Amino acid sequence: MENRIIELVQEIQSANPNGQGELEVFRLKYISKKGSISELFETLKTLPKEEKQRFGKPLNELKQLAESKFTEWQEKLESSSSAASLDIDFTLPPVPEKQGNQHPLTLTRNRIIEIFERLGFSVADGPEIEDDWHNFSALNFPENHPAREMQDTFFVEKKGQDGASQDMLLRTHTSNVQVRMMTNQKPPIRAIMPGRVYRNEAISARAHCFFHQVEGLYVDRNVGFADLKQTLYHFAKEMYGQDTKIRFRPSFFPFTEPSAEIDISCLICKGKGCNVCKYSGWVEIAGSGMVHPNVLRHCGIDPEEFTGFAFGMGIERVTMLRYQVNDLRLYSENDLRFLRQFSTVV
Ligand code: PHE
Repeated sequence: MENRIIELVQEIQSANPNGQGELEVFRLKYISKKGSISELFETLKTLPKEEKQRFGKPLNELKQLAESKFTEWQEKLESSSSAASLDIDFTLPPVPEKQGNQHPLTLTRNRIIEIFERLGFSVADGPEIEDDWHNFSALNFPENHPAREMQDTFFVEKKGQDGASQDMLLRTHTSNVQVRMMTNQKPPIRAIMPGRVYRNEAISARAHCFFHQVEGLYVDRNVGFADLKQTLYHFAKEMYGQDTKIRFRPSFFPFTEPSAEIDISCLICKGKGCNVCKYSGWVEIAGSGMVHPNVLRHCGIDPEEFTGFAFGMGIERVTMLRYQVNDLRLYSENDLRFLRQFSTVV
């Protein structure tokens, strides 16, 4: 009796019926009224009393084992066959996939590029980790001059292969690319240079430690302030519509002379006054001016022969006015509720 029970436990545990047919064979062999387990119960009845007590429990456990295995396999078979017989209509259109969309700053940058490309400007790029010369000295910032503090700088240390360290910085504006262009190619130069810039500023609704600019540069014979004005007038009207007003305010940059800041009539309050335009009706979007003769000289261009204009535009500002965004932090928080609003804007 004992051996027979052990034998059956092993058989049942190693059984692996495949398909409904084999499962039925299993049932007949072990569980049915004529199966091996019922047979053992019959034999049990004929045994003396102590033996009955000894084998009753293991025999019942054997029965339970066989039955639970059987229901387990049966359930498995049922679920796989119901999946196979699922009524799938292969002609139905697929569930639409969620598509990502471009960041508002990317949309604006691309629009800016489009407008200037039509005027014959090419697009150039430059490094974000820069040396002092390209970011400051070549741009006519004197050594130790307070003008360098107009832009709070992040300095980084670069270790050369020989172990010597060199002071580098995260560029504070895209004007470094102007210098690289003018040292690398001869006029005429007509290019815009979009990119990310960094300043050591506390983060608030109106300031951030990184943001984006588009630099513009046009150097050729006889380029004058009127060209700068006309180019930016054209830009403002293309970007914001024909009714947009633009204003030039005298300003100072070491690398341009004369210099001007460019304001756009506030599109959020239509000039009536709101917190974005600080109740003035105007929003500043760019700094600009005629390239300083010293800068041309530093880059190997003769200022007697060539003149040029330059501007640096804040992409965040341009985007704020374009989509009425009133907090700079929204651009870098990755809040999908904000970002998804731009999915339909092309
Ligand atoms: N680089 C200046 C800034 O970041 C902007 C500027 C660019 C001004 C080119 C004049 C000419 O503020």
